[in-house]
Amino acid sequence: MDNREIVVFPTIAKLAEFVAGLLNTLIAETADGEYLTLALSGGSTPKQIFRYITSHDTIKTRWEKVRFFWVDERCVPAEDDESNYKMTRQNLLENLAVPEGNIFRIHGENDPEKEAVRYSSIIAGNVPVENNWPRFDILLLGLGEDGHTASIFPGNTALFQSSKICEVATHPKSGQQRITLTGPVINNASHVIFMVTGPGKASVVAKILQDSNTGLPASFVKPSHGNLTWLLDEDAAGKLKNGPLRQ
Ligand code: 6PG
Repeated sequence: MDNREIVVFPTIAKLAEFVAGLLNTLIAETADGEYLTLALSGGSTPKQIFRYITSHDTIKTRWEKVRFFWVDERCVPAEDDESNYKMTRQNLLENLAVPEGNIFRIHGENDPEKEAVRYSSIIAGNVPVENNWPRFDILLLGLGEDGHTASIFPGNTALFQSSKICEVATHPKSGQQRITLTGPVINNASHVIFMVTGPGKASVVAKILQDSNTGLPASFVKPSHGNLTWLLDEDAAGKLKNGPLRQ
């Protein structure tokens, strides 16, 4: 796969600095009157990166040119501590000058099946379609130790062949219901970026990046019309054999 890049950073701050720089560049390249469509994931790694971005937003990024979506959401109310929207608002959005009209949250409080339909139509109406699917400019993905990404968990990789934009998923351990982007949407994005940190992810990162046919959900992320970037800290890269590009 020649559209895949692996970059290793000494610290999560340097990784976050790279993400902030990339966002600034892509936002600056966004034509007047157009928006950069950005879909965010939840989890502790994105949270740390969001906090870095907001505490170092010295370049005064033109956030009004960004439309914010979510890759997935827990089926809980927006004020619930489990909510990815709440985490993003507290650690990113509250600190940036983002017009409310640019924020398209998943309504985790709604009936899951109805919300998957509603959010699919929101995306269809606000994200340009290319290759017969909505095409996000940037997807920021996390990686679970079980190899899940978004809310596509092991045993549910059929979501990479879904005919829908969003579907309802269930966390295999907690039983928590989720709304998630499906594989065709993920693999149609222009820039798909995994952000993975910590020693706990080293084994699954090495398996996904070095083994073939792992069957793990993150292994199915192969953008067909875009590029795939793995941003790792040294700990998460700790079990990779030959040294990937190090910053
Ligand atoms: C979620 C995320 C999920 C997350 C990974 C990594 O809703 O939890 O979308 O895919 O990104 O589980 O999470 P950590 O960074 O907390 O390990």
